[in-house]
Amino acid sequence: MTDKRVAIVTGGSRGIGAAIVRRLADDKMHVVAIARNLEKLNQVCSEITSAGGTAEALVCDIADFKALAAAVEGVAERLGRIDVLVNNAGIAKDGLILRMDDEDFDTVIATNLKAAFVTIRAAARPMVRAKGGRIINISSVSGVAGNAGQANYSASKAGMIGLSKSVAKELAGKNITCNVVAPGFITTDMTDVLNDQIKEGVKNFIPLKRFGTPQEVASVVSFLAGNDANYVTGQVICVDGGMVM
Ligand code: NAI
Repeated sequence: MTDKRVAIVTGGSRGIGAAIVRRLADDKMHVVAIARNLEKLNQVCSEITSAGGTAEALVCDIADFKALAAAVEGVAERLGRIDVLVNNAGIAKDGLILRMDDEDFDTVIATNLKAAFVTIRAAARPMVRAKGGRIINISSVSGVAGNAGQANYSASKAGMIGLSKSVAKELAGKNITCNVVAPGFITTDMTDVLNDQIKEGVKNFIPLKRFGTPQEVASVVSFLAGNDANYVTGQVICVDGGMVM
């Protein structure tokens, strides 16, 4: 049991997720960071505890839906509350539609979209009991505007938006908000795979002429998780340097 607000962040071991874990811990929450790699999770969590915050690692493959639901339910039982849920973990398996096989489509939808449904269903129970909660789903500008070569990824991220807007309507009466953050190009392992020529080309399409940082996404998550966003639900906030207007 803890008196602190409890936040669960999936994909908290690196990139945007690790920045969200650090930021919510700075916001005085107890953060449970979920990912597959214990060593990386422990690195993020021990940095936080050395700085006086509280965070814990929870190893789980979010594509194992039974294990994922049990992990979220376990947090509620053990800590007595779930105040904030951030569905951040995600994967991409890009390819042109003519060449995309069923497996690459299904895996991306399962990891990015179904896992979010599973965690929301599991976290909603303790949130309803507590008469409050914040659900924040990390989508992508690809889910808002589409992107050639990312039919599976864009479908999963657009699906997260429909899921979030429905959950926002369904749970508003219980004082639970559900919002989406849609990042554009953010400097992480996911975008490091692009070669320099592609990166420069992409910057030309970004009005602010640069990639964003994981911290700039985490700030918006922090806003949505805090009291300043009490009256905000069902929204999609693009953090993309103005790409999608
Ligand atoms: P990343 O690849 O650096 O990190 C992804 C995180 O998800 C890692 O912690 C990884 O361990 C975790 N993860 C992936 N599959 C998992 C599984 N089956 N079980 C447990 N954990 C799993 O990605 P990045 O860049 O930090 O992205 C985070 C989120 O933001 C993703 O949902 C991504 O789609 C989204 N996003 C990222 C953008 C970018 O430019 N980096 C742009 C738009 C959206």
